[in-house]
Amino acid sequence: MAVSGKPGSVKGGCSFGRAVNFSRKHHKGGLRVRNVATRLPETQVSPETQVSPEKGGGNERKLAAWTSIRQERWEGELAVQGEIPLWLNGTYLRNGPGLWHIGDYNFRHLFDGYATLVRLHFQDGRLIAGHRQIQSEAYKAAIKNKKLCYREFSEVPKADNFLSYVGELASLFSGASLTDNANTGVVRLGDGRVVCLTETIKGSIIIDPDTLETMGKFEYSDTLGGLIHSAHPIVTESEFWTLLPDLVKPGYIVVRMEPGSNERKVIGRVNCRGGPAPGWVHSFPVTEHYVVVPEMSLRYCAQNLLRAEPTPLYKFEWHPLSKAFMHVMCKASGKIVSSLYHLPYCYNFIYNNSVFFLM
Ligand SMILES: [Fe+2]
Repeated sequence: MAVSGKPGSVKGGCSFGRAVNFSRKHHKGGLRVRNVATRLPETQVSPETQVSPEKGGGNERKLAAWTSIRQERWEGELAVQGEIPLWLNGTYLRNGPGLWHIGDYNFRHLFDGYATLVRLHFQDGRLIAGHRQIQSEAYKAAIKNKKLCYREFSEVPKADNFLSYVGELASLFSGASLTDNANTGVVRLGDGRVVCLTETIKGSIIIDPDTLETMGKFEYSDTLGGLIHSAHPIVTESEFWTLLPDLVKPGYIVVRMEPGSNERKVIGRVNCRGGPAPGWVHSFPVTEHYVVVPEMSLRYCAQNLLRAEPTPLYKFEWHPLSKAFMHVMCKASGKIVSSLYHLPYCYNFIYNNSVFFLM
């Protein structure tokens, strides 16, 4: 979470249902009050926030996380219960899946939902809120055709016939059929541009943080190619780090991008120590001087990428015998300084706050 963020400080995804709370840790509905100097007044859950089976386009699930937004765009001032401190000025953005149905069809996986940006703007004790759908090609095509048209995280479009299936497979190799549904996160680059991301490189989309308007694709100007990258790059005022999994020659390319640039530069490469493919790198950690490249036992699977139906592990495959490693790369030289044998097998999804000690 961030207010008038510094680069990289706006976040999203992977924390479904988490409340936004800047100054006071409490749960609405009077469930718990913690770490506050004075007791907060009791709050009532608005009828608008109560989930009913009818909401969300006929979605039968009652979990709030599965409740689709009811309109493509909305903005308004929220009634505040209690007081917002006057020193709290700025904008909080988050991004994540927010629409899980097309017509009568309901998605089956949280990650398939079409991206919804949420904006909370705090100013002088007032709170202006809004949300807006990211106008990805995948979202626009689904709305227009009333069906899934791109390969999402867990689902693929249903082919009308064998020929269209073959054509869809061909477009997979070029990346044309992969989704650009940028529903995983939102980052502010060092130059001020705000970019929404997902695991496909084509799903890097620039948005206006004030209006939430989709401005266009973030086009990388280098020639590195590839179809996928880590969904959560590391972004600071001076740098942008991400990992490009190499599915052909199993490994990872570590790249860095300067503020104001669209060109990623290769810092180094990690060759996999085990398994037939690189492990899934949804996120990765960095320290002041090192990039840590996780090679986990849940690995990308080309066969599952080609399948037309969901598999138990989606685009991945579990390889416990391939073990898991943590490769540590020097940011300055690109050299591997350590490849730690981590555990017989494991998978980590999200990394936060890393410290690395050379021993
Ligand atoms: Fe995530």
